[in-house]
Amino acid sequence: MFNSKMLITFVCLLSICCFFASSQNVLSSSQNISSSQTTSLQDISTQDISFIYKEPINGLKLYNTVTFTLDNSLMIWMIFEDEDPACILPYLHLRLMDKTGKIKYMDFNYTLPVEAVCPLTADIFPLTKNYIMITYIKLNNGVEGKYGIIINYSNESTINEIYLGNANGFVERSIVPNKGLISIEKPDKEGIATWRLFSLPDITTGEVVERKNGEFHAPNLLSYTLVDSLNFLLTDGGFGFMYILKYDETKESSVIDPNLQYWRVYVSFLREGADSPTIPSLVYQTTKKLNNLTIKSCSVTYNAEGYVCIMTLNNTITNIKKNKSQTEINYYQLRFLSTGALEQLNRISNPTNNTDIDLEILYYGGFLVENIYDAMDFYLLDDSGTDYYSPVIETTNPAINEVVDPSIKEIIIKYTIPVKLSTANVSIFQQSDDPSKPALLRQTFSGDYKLCTVGSDNYTVHIPIFESTFSQSNSSYYVLVDNNFVISQERDEPLMGIGNKIWMLSTEPLKMVRYSDSVTGLLRLNEEGSLKFLQTNHSVFFKNMIREFSKTIPVAEQRLSTSGRWQYDPTSPKKILLSFNIKEAKDDHAIELNSQMIFEILRTLIKQKRFTALSSNEYTSLIDESAPLIMTRNYFEEFRLLIIIFTVGLIVLIILYILARRKNSEAKNSVIFETYFIIQDFAVDLAFVLLKVKNTPHLKIPT
Ligand SMILES: *[C@@H]1O[C@H](CO)[C@@H](O)[C@H](O)[C@H]1NC(C)=O
Ligand SMILES: *[C@@H]1O[C@H](CO)[C@@H](O)[C@H](O)[C@H]1NC(C)=O
Ligand SMILES: *[C@@H]1O[C@H](CO)[C@@H](O)[C@H](O)[C@H]1NC(C)=O
Ligand SMILES: *[C@@H]1O[C@H](CO)[C@@H](O)[C@H](O)[C@H]1NC(C)=O
Ligand SMILES: *[C@@H]1O[C@H](CO)[C@@H](O)[C@H](O)[C@H]1NC(C)=O
Ligand SMILES: *[C@@H]1O[C@H](CO)[C@@H](O)[C@H](O)[C@H]1NC(C)=O
Ligand SMILES: *[C@@H]1O[C@H](CO)[C@@H](O)[C@H](O)[C@H]1NC(C)=O
Ligand SMILES: *[C@@H]1O[C@H](CO)[C@@H](O)[C@H](O)[C@H]1NC(C)=O
Ligand SMILES: *[C@@H]1O[C@H](CO)[C@@H](O)[C@H](O)[C@H]1NC(C)=O
Ligand SMILES: *[C@@H]1O[C@H](CO)[C@@H](O)[C@H](O)[C@H]1NC(C)=O
Ligand SMILES: *[C@@H]1O[C@H](CO)[C@@H](O)[C@H](O)[C@H]1NC(C)=O
Ligand SMILES: *[C@@H]1O[C@H](CO)[C@@H](O)[C@H](O)[C@H]1NC(C)=O
Repeated sequence: MFNSKMLITFVCLLSICCFFASSQNVLSSSQNISSSQTTSLQDISTQDISFIYKEPINGLKLYNTVTFTLDNSLMIWMIFEDEDPACILPYLHLRLMDKTGKIKYMDFNYTLPVEAVCPLTADIFPLTKNYIMITYIKLNNGVEGKYGIIINYSNESTINEIYLGNANGFVERSIVPNKGLISIEKPDKEGIATWRLFSLPDITTGEVVERKNGEFHAPNLLSYTLVDSLNFLLTDGGFGFMYILKYDETKESSVIDPNLQYWRVYVSFLREGADSPTIPSLVYQTTKKLNNLTIKSCSVTYNAEGYVCIMTLNNTITNIKKNKSQTEINYYQLRFLSTGALEQLNRISNPTNNTDIDLEILYYGGFLVENIYDAMDFYLLDDSGTDYYSPVIETTNPAINEVVDPSIKEIIIKYTIPVKLSTANVSIFQQSDDPSKPALLRQTFSGDYKLCTVGSDNYTVHIPIFESTFSQSNSSYYVLVDNNFVISQERDEPLMGIGNKIWMLSTEPLKMVRYSDSVTGLLRLNEEGSLKFLQTNHSVFFKNMIREFSKTIPVAEQRLSTSGRWQYDPTSPKKILLSFNIKEAKDDHAIELNSQMIFEILRTLIKQKRFTALSSNEYTSLIDESAPLIMTRNYFEEFRLLIIIFTVGLIVLIILYILARRKNSEAKNSVIFETYFIIQDFAVDLAFVLLKVKNTPHLKIPT
């Protein structure tokens, strides 16, 4: 396990080893194993990039490497061996290698718990940026349990220790980066395995908490015993569980039924968001009385439709004539869909004469680790930037690294198979100038929102782009397509998406901006927001709103202000209208968005509030998106408005004057002037309201 060589080579593979070929799609109980179709294990075609890693600290040995799916970096765990070969010294040394081969060396001033290192039971799980979890077995009241501590590797602090389950359990992170992790216990005698879902570390406290729990139940079959079980990860972010059952021969029967299934393999799925797993489905059974049936690993398949497991059948064939027996080991790939339906059963021919070979499933984004010639080689995926890491995506428009026009109306993904929209999201982020800051969400919605459309060929998906999305010039953006954003049309199987920072796009620097004056925008709060506004110190409310606008648009806070003006909306009396000013750009040298452009961005953000970051902020989420942002004033408009108000006022005055003279010659001028002022005041409010409710046919005039 320990590798004494401190020169470690990291090799990037450009393509994937694939050993798939078509075969019979049958769930066969009496398959002639030696005659079933075979496919050869093709050569791995590579265009290698190697990184040489040298450990600077003498005596440190490689213990483990894990990948960070978030950004495809590699965490390398180095240890000092102890005199006791079962133990290691309790110091923590981690090296984080990024995609370019750059290494961050982290030598912690922190000792691992003794249970983790002596005997060595520790395992490591990268969680999110800054956080890893180290798991270990610990005795608690005489019972062995699996525990995990969360470590902030950026400042070497430990957060909390959590109980994960019994000692032999399986712990793994979801395939989907922002989902949590699971712990599944080894099944008990009744075939019941407890599962617990945990959150990822909280952004501010780093704490990991249990979110849900439940049980997996093995199929309840008389005369079969559970011999083994296995866990794997689902495309949609959920978890799969596999059971291997064997016929119990102790239950005696005089006649041997030729159709008796000696071995049965079932799968059950705990889908993302589900509260309980599916009823186990049968994916393989055989009438052969094998020595053993083992399943090494299961994974998402190469073409990303369903799952593939490597199954090993150990069978002893007796030739009665020759009075000879021979044991043979056959490898199969067992492919099934997330419905539990078997898709393919292919034999994999063994390229070596060795019966104890180690097969690893490779898929885009995955890693293959093999022991070759006593050295350890790590095969990473290509990072040439031309690959979507998703085998079902053929092209996109715009392509990776393209410069986009900010007024682009849609982006397009072309798949290699016909697709349908599903429930997961497609999102666009703007990268922050400061790499330590999180990316800014520009728009997000799921496939089933009816905003996206599938082209008539059924291969292309059109994703609409809001005017506010690529609004920042000279900036980097990326499109994140979650797994299960689309499903395959033929089989309803969730397909893999495009991970973080792969589909990168950028905008050009602003060349010239037409000057525009300050503008004032009027927006409406929803009922909840109106209530909160009334209960909150108004200036605090305005200030927070401005801060959130500045973050979300994004624009310097100085460009936004408010007169503090507000009023009830006459057309919807429980709702409140607020006014905000967008100032003209001050600095002539810096090219900035003009106030008109900022207004348009804000208007789009409000209109599309539920799909933009406005809905995730405390204050801007209180905006009523059913009422558009209205421009109430710029100098020109205001001037025109004043003319209208005065004209209207004057006409009314004249009419009143004439009426007054006709009806009552004793009418006093003062009354007329009072009326004029009331009307003028009203006219201002009326203008305020009229602009707001352009489409309201009737306007009630308050008396
Ligand atoms: C199994 O395959 C072998 C080799 O192809 C063949 O000789 C044999 O007849 C087959 N047996 C059955 C039962 O199909
Ligand atoms: C490591 O921790 C110990 C005990 O907390 C402290 O005395 C020592 O100064 C620390 N060393 C470094 C390099 O931070
Ligand atoms: C790490 O950061 C957290 C939060 O900023 C702080 O509470 C803690 O004291 C820091 N720990 C160390 C060792 O610097
Ligand atoms: C983790 O470390 C980073 C970097 O020092 C710090 O910003 C963050 O607050 C820390 N988090 C916690 C929960 O300690
Ligand atoms: C069958 O395989 C499993 C898993 O590798 C192993 O635990 C078990 O001991 C094997 N059984 C026999 C009878 O060899
Ligand atoms: C196959 O099964 C036989 C009999 O149980 C066992 O001796 C042998 O080690 C097994 N081979 C492998 C590769 O598991
Ligand atoms: C088969 O061979 C074994 C020893 O190799 C022998 O003991 C046995 O009697 C033989 N059986 C038959 C039917 O020839
Ligand atoms: C397998 O064994 C045969 C005979 O012993 C030999 O000719 C052949 O080269 C071997 N194949 C490999 C891949 O080692
Ligand atoms: C999609 O995004 C919305 C809003 O950000 C979020 O609430 C939802 O959980 C996401 N859906 C999935 C499947 O991740
Ligand atoms: C696309 O899918 C729809 C619905 O399944 C089908 O009716 C239509 O014929 C398909 N179009 C093409 C070009 O295959
Ligand atoms: C564009 O951004 C880059 C990097 O942030 C910066 O160096 C450059 O000056 C910017 N160009 C313009 C025209 O703002
Ligand atoms: C509202 O908050 C501002 C600033 O925080 C403060 O100056 C003002 O007195 C507060 N008004 C009320 C009515 O509490």
